Amino acid sequence: MRFDIISVLPGLLESPFAHSILQRAQKKGIAEIHVHNLRDYATNKHKSVDDYPYGGGSGMVMMIEPFALCIEKLKAEREYDEVIFMTPDGETLNQNIANQLSVKGNIIILCGHYKGIDQRVRDLYVTREMSIGDYVLSGGELPAAVLVDSVVRLIPGVLSDETSALSDSFQGDLLDAPVYTRPADWNGHKVPDILLSGNTPEIEKWRFEQALERTKTRRPDLLNE
Ligand code: ADE
Repeated sequence: MRFDIISVLPGLLESPFAHSILQRAQKKGIAEIHVHNLRDYATNKHKSVDDYPYGGGSGMVMMIEPFALCIEKLKAEREYDEVIFMTPDGETLNQNIANQLSVKGNIIILCGHYKGIDQRVRDLYVTREMSIGDYVLSGGELPAAVLVDSVVRLIPGVLSDETSALSDSFQGDLLDAPVYTRPADWNGHKVPDILLSGNTPEIEKWRFEQALERTKTRRPDLLNE
């Protein structure tokens, strides 16, 4: 799977992709993540990528031309399944969408800044608009990193224990059961006996009950879906 991320702040995206699971996925050749500096596609002498909004108002608007040049160049090199624009007015990312995206081939992600991007970029190029939640961030880079992380870890072969993504919170519409590790007794705070029993069917039953209870109290909305 390949991601091409278009951004005015490519440096913001370096660290999230250079560690842990995302780094491993790239080293194994399972995921390719390419970050493109939008400013490299600016055409005027000031290398500007934004301009004043038509009709007035506050804030700058990102221009269509640099996006168009970068997207057209990428599309001439390969086919893309989606061109995703990260925006707080998009569809809210959830585990179901991450699952859908994890079986795609090539995806372009556009990161916005300032007041927004020229509507024509959205009309002409964008196939899907995604938000990571009902709050506003200063740009689309952190949301893009969140999206890529949520998708890449689902690609088969990325997580060492392939079943571990399957038991994640949300994956089966339930939150995770509590987990414990050594010591079994920490200053009198004990790990539940059942987990030390070695009785696997009973442990599975306990985990399911705990997951259900957690979901009921914390996220009853998940049970209604
Ligand atoms: N850009 C700014 N805020 C955002 C959000 N919540 N989700 C996606 N992109 C954004």
